[in-house]
Amino acid sequence: MPASTSVTLNTGAIMPTVGLGTWKSKPGQVEHAVEFALKNGYRHIDTAAGYANETEVGQGLKASGVPRDQVFVTTKLDNPDQRHVPEALEASLSKLDTPYIDLWLMHWPAPMTRDGKADKDYDWLDTWKAMEDVHLAHPEKLKAIGVSNFSVEYLERLLKVARVVPAVNQIELHPSCPQHDVVAYCQSKGIVLTAYSPLGSDNSPLLKNTAVNKIAEKYGVQPANILISLHANKPGHTVLPKSVTNERILNNAKIVDLTDAEIDELHKIDETHHFRACHPAWTGWGGLGFPDCK
Ligand code: A2P
Repeated sequence: MPASTSVTLNTGAIMPTVGLGTWKSKPGQVEHAVEFALKNGYRHIDTAAGYANETEVGQGLKASGVPRDQVFVTTKLDNPDQRHVPEALEASLSKLDTPYIDLWLMHWPAPMTRDGKADKDYDWLDTWKAMEDVHLAHPEKLKAIGVSNFSVEYLERLLKVARVVPAVNQIELHPSCPQHDVVAYCQSKGIVLTAYSPLGSDNSPLLKNTAVNKIAEKYGVQPANILISLHANKPGHTVLPKSVTNERILNNAKIVDLTDAEIDELHKIDETHHFRACHPAWTGWGGLGFPDCK
C-alpha cells in the first residue's frame, strides 16, 4: 500500500499524515520552525499547553500567512489542568490566538497538582467527561477530542463509558517502541494513531541503526525519512517529527513507500533495542498500564 498523505478521523475531518512536532522546541526557535514548516508545505502542527510554547506556535501560524482553515492544529490539556477543562481550553485558544482547535488531547491519563505531584483524589475519567461536554457544546471551538499516552487497559476503561470515541491516541511510536498491542486496539476501534518521538527523540540511536541506514541507502534518503515513513506506511497513522532546523524540517516531509519486508525488519529492532524516550512514571502514576512499563 502506498504511504498516506492524510487520514480521516472518526469525525470525518482530514488530518495530514506528517505534522511538525514541537515537544522540546524552545521559545525563540519554535515560532520560526512553525512559520518555516508552513511556508514549505506542512499543514499540520502539534503543540501542548505543557510544552509552554503555544503562544509562539500561534505567532508562527500567523506569520506563515497560511489561512487558518488550511492548517490542522493539535494541542493538549495539561495534567495540572484536569480539574479545569473549560478554562484550559479557553487558555489554549487564547495563547494560540485561534478561534478553534482541530484536535484537543488529554495529554496523559494522569491528573497532577500545580507543584508536579500526582493528584490521586481526581479521576482522569471525569476529565474525559468534561472534555466531551465542551466538545459537544462547542464543536465550533473544539472540532475533535482525543487522548495521548493511553494503553489498552486505559482505553478499555474509557470506552466503557465514553459518549465520544477519541479521534486519536497520540503515543510514543518508533522501531524501539512499536506498541503493537495499542496500535491493533486503536485500529479495531477506528482511533487514529499519532506517533510522537518517531526518531526516538534527541540523540537517538535509531538514526545510527544498521537496518535503518541500510533501508535509507536503498531509497537515497536520510535515516530520519525511513523512521518517519514507517508510520505513513501504516493505515490510520499520522506522525510528528520534531525539528527546529530548517533543512531537517524540509527533509522530514519526504516520505517513501516501504515494502512489507522492510517494515518487518524495522519492527525486529525492538527485540534487542527497546527503549522509551518518555517513560510514563514521571507523572507519579506508575506505568499507566503499558506492559513494558510495569
Ligand atoms: P533539531 O530539532 O535540533 O533539528 P523526535 O521527532 O523523535 O522527537 O526527534 C527530535 C530530535 O531529532 C531532535 O533532537 C531533532 O533535532 C532531531 N532531528 C530532527 N530531524 C532530524 C533529521 N532529519 N536528522 C537528524 N536528526 C533530526
